[in-house]
Amino acid sequence: MTLENCPQVLIDRKEIEVAVQRLANEITRDYKDKHPLIIVMLKGSFIFAADLIRRLDFPLEIEFLRLSSYGEKKESSGSVNIVQGLHVPIKDRHVLILEDIIDTGHTISFLMNYLGKMRSASLKLCALSDKPSRRQVPITIDYLGFTVPNKFIVGYGIDWDEKYRYLPDICVIE
Ligand code: IMP
Ligand code: MG
Repeated sequence: MTLENCPQVLIDRKEIEVAVQRLANEITRDYKDKHPLIIVMLKGSFIFAADLIRRLDFPLEIEFLRLSSYGEKKESSGSVNIVQGLHVPIKDRHVLILEDIIDTGHTISFLMNYLGKMRSASLKLCALSDKPSRRQVPITIDYLGFTVPNKFIVGYGIDWDEKYRYLPDICVIE
């Protein structure tokens, strides 16, 4: 690891834990009687989802969805593809999406349009982090962990070119 891409802690594991509990409280308040379908966006949300969902003590189901990623680039291309789609119908279900980070908004906007046609009972978004300074498409985030500065973040499941997902804190690389 060269010095210039050595990750610096931005949000430590204690702060993450507090935010995840707060989100779990908000989601429990709104969904405890709704038997929601939680859609976990792979791969970046897997650690966030595992921590959050273990704090939700009510009936729910979990699905995974994977959209195309950045690869080695740190910029979204704006064109999004489904790599792994849904295997259950979402019609009449209360759907909650878990995403790692909202950056330009292209990825989640694509997903909301795609799922929006499937006549779910409701469709909401929970994001671990938001980088609003780079938004190109307006996005409503119903449950938000952190607002982050215009830096490239890694760790706590979030990667750069498949690296750094294992870091327990949310870190910044140059
Ligand atoms: P968007 O389409 O530009 O909003 O990008 C959303 C996706 O790009 C996220 O789900 C991440 O996978 C990835 N991404 C955006 N910003 C970052 C970052 O700072 N670090 C790592 N991945 C990012
Ligand atoms: Mg992602």
